[in-house]
Amino acid sequence: MDTAVNSDLAQWMKKNVGRYAEKLPDWDAFPASRGFPELARSQVRYIGAGGAHEKTGDTQTLTPDHFTLSVMQQPVGKYGASHAHECKEAFLVLDGVLTIGWEWDGEVILARCGPKDMCLHDAYRPHGFRNEGVDPVMVSVMVGKARPLPPQYTYHPKTHSPELSWNFGAQPDKIKMLDCDSIDPRHRNMAQHIVRYSQQRVEWHPAGFAKQVYIGEGGAPPESFRKDLITAPRGVGVQPYARDTEEAYFVLEGVITAGWEENGRIVEQRLGPRDLILNPPGQVRYFKNDGATDAQFMMIVGTAKPEDVKFKATAK
Ligand SMILES: [Fe+2]
Repeated sequence: MDTAVNSDLAQWMKKNVGRYAEKLPDWDAFPASRGFPELARSQVRYIGAGGAHEKTGDTQTLTPDHFTLSVMQQPVGKYGASHAHECKEAFLVLDGVLTIGWEWDGEVILARCGPKDMCLHDAYRPHGFRNEGVDPVMVSVMVGKARPLPPQYTYHPKTHSPELSWNFGAQPDKIKMLDCDSIDPRHRNMAQHIVRYSQQRVEWHPAGFAKQVYIGEGGAPPESFRKDLITAPRGVGVQPYARDTEEAYFVLEGVITAGWEENGRIVEQRLGPRDLILNPPGQVRYFKNDGATDAQFMMIVGTAKPEDVKFKATAK
């Protein structure tokens, strides 16, 4: 390993890491929420600014290409007013239970997502979310564009009653819970975009790690990026590989070591829960778990194309 901590490669790698403990939440990230305490939520930015349009110049975040990534915190009893985007947006719950609503002409379907469950909001589908649980909700939010257009609010307390806004545009008798067995195309559409951690198929790779597809073939339909949950048991690692698009590792559990290789030199960064590294296109990289417990991280790749990397286990 390159122990010259000041080498260009080591410095460049460090610049591509976002550490949760080094970030402060921004409680004023969403201008449309100003003056509405019921909409309070905060944002911690890792890649780009997501939907926070006034924060695109934040130098603490990494430069986005095919996706952004931030973490949103929503206190108990707060909600996010229904709105739509021109691209897909992934909500991965990290803590708590988030109630998500999709709206069709005054009718709303609700789904509750718990830890490691994901909802990929479809492009142009109005969606809102609220915390009616007992714990603060933490959600990783990914928008499938470097600089999305401002969200289009459909039911906001500025223009609609508090009750209608809380219910994302539906009268009480127009709200249904998601039914995954329904033949209603709206239920089917929403069900196709929700991945539940406990229900998603586990594929064991010959290199020794497990993969659950969240966005991509076998998961929710991709648009501009794919997303897999990787479980790397203690002691497992892969040999250096490259991609021609950017790729992020976002750690959920345990500790992983991310490595970069260039001209025979190697530099590494250890990443703990909610730490992230953005591997640039072309950069030769690898991951390994040399921690004390099994590790889980999201592997996010800036393309909708199927996986083409042939992972090989690190030589023992
Ligand atoms: Fe959204």
